[in-house]
Amino acid sequence: MTSNPGNRYSLLGLGAAATLAATLMVGPAMAAAKEQSTDSGMGDNAAHLAVTESDFDKTPQGEQIERYHLTNRNGMAVDVITFGARVQSIVLPDKNGKKADIALGFDNVKDYIDHQSTYFGAIIGRYGNRIANGTFKLDGKTYNLPKNDGPNTLHGGTEGFDQKIWAAAPIRSNDAVGVELTHFSPDGTMGFPGDLAVTVRYTLDNDNDLRIHYSAVSDKDTVINLTNHTYFNLAGAGSGTVLDQVAMINANQYTPINKTLIPTGKLAPVKDTPMDFTTPTPIGRNIHADSPQLKYAEPKQGGYDFNWVLNTDGDLDKLAARVSDPQSGRMVEMYTSEPGVQFYTSNFLDGSFKGAHGNTLGHWGGFTLEAQHYPNSPNQPDFPTTTLKAGQKYTQTTVYRFLPE
Ligand code: BGC
Repeated sequence: MTSNPGNRYSLLGLGAAATLAATLMVGPAMAAAKEQSTDSGMGDNAAHLAVTESDFDKTPQGEQIERYHLTNRNGMAVDVITFGARVQSIVLPDKNGKKADIALGFDNVKDYIDHQSTYFGAIIGRYGNRIANGTFKLDGKTYNLPKNDGPNTLHGGTEGFDQKIWAAAPIRSNDAVGVELTHFSPDGTMGFPGDLAVTVRYTLDNDNDLRIHYSAVSDKDTVINLTNHTYFNLAGAGSGTVLDQVAMINANQYTPINKTLIPTGKLAPVKDTPMDFTTPTPIGRNIHADSPQLKYAEPKQGGYDFNWVLNTDGDLDKLAARVSDPQSGRMVEMYTSEPGVQFYTSNFLDGSFKGAHGNTLGHWGGFTLEAQHYPNSPNQPDFPTTTLKAGQKYTQTTVYRFLPE
C-alpha cells in the first residue's frame, strides 16, 4: 500500500476540459477518442496493466454489447460491460493466491434484462435510490417520474442508466488502465429535466484500486445522484451468505426510514442500534435484532438497506467503509467524495435464479456499498443538495480498494 486514494487521482492525464469534451462527444468524435486513447504512451509500471476489449453478448434487438477486461500485476481482473456500464466481474486472489469472482453478475444480457431489479454492478442514474411518491419540485416546477417501487421511484425509474447501452473507449496510462463510458440522456427522460451528458471512468491500478469517476453536465437545472450498484461477496459470488463477513462503516449517524424505505428526514445516532458499524462487526451479528427499521428493510428475516451519514466530509483520504472476510483474507475498502453510503445486504435474493458461472445467489448472498447522496434529497431541503445547475459540472469519485494486493 503506497498512498491514500485521494492523492493519486489526477492520474490519467486527461484534465477536466478533456473530460467535459468527452462528455459531449457522440458518433465519429467518440470513435476518434477511442483510437487516441488506445495509442496513449505506456511506462514500466503499465507493463503489468492491461485492458482488452471483446464481444460480450448481443441484446434481444441484436445490438452488440462489449466487455472491457482490466488486469493488474496482482492477478486482479475487473470486467466492465457496456450494458448499463456494469461491473460484470471482479476476480481477486485470496490470502493463498486462490482466485474467485467476488462480484455478483450474469454472463449474458438476457439475464441482466430479466433480473433488472437486481441492478447487479450497474451505474445507477439519473437518481440513485428513492424519490418519494415519484415527484419533486425544482425552481417552482413539479416533476413527475415513473413509480417502480411501490409509491416511489427507485434508481432512476423504469428504464434507468442500468438498461442503457453506453459508448466506451479504453483508457491506458502509466498508472492505470480502464474504460471510459459515456451516455446522453435527453431532456424529459424518465421525467427528469435537462439534456444530460454523463461520463463514467473506471480505472484499475497496481494497488488494487478500482476507481470510479463520474461527471455530468445538464443544459437545465436538474437533480442527479449517480452511484454504482456492485454486490460483493468476498468469499466468492455464490458461496453462501455474507453474514460472517465483517463490516466497518465510518458513520455515527444514519437516515432512518419509513415503511416504504423513504428517509424520515432525521439523522439518527447509530449508537446502541444494529446500525452501529463504527467498530468492525460481523454483518450477521445484529441482522435478526428486533428492530422496526430492520423489518422495514426486510420484513421477514431482517436486513440492512439504509443510508449511513459518513463522517468523512467527502475526503477521499478518509476511509468510509471496509468489509473483510476472515476466511479468505479478502477485504474491500471504500473511499468516496459522497456524503452517504447505502449498505444493502441483498435482502431480496432467494436463490431462485442463477448468476454467472452457474452460481446460486441466495438470501444475503452479497452486500453493496453504494456511495451516494441521501435518498429522497430533492424533497428534503435539510439534506445535502442534489441539484445540478444548468451548465455546471457534476463530479463524483469513489474508490474501492481490494486486499490482499
Ligand atoms: C435499494 C434496495 C433495493 C435494491 C434493488 C438498493 O439500492 O436500497 O432497497 O431493493 O437497491 O436491487
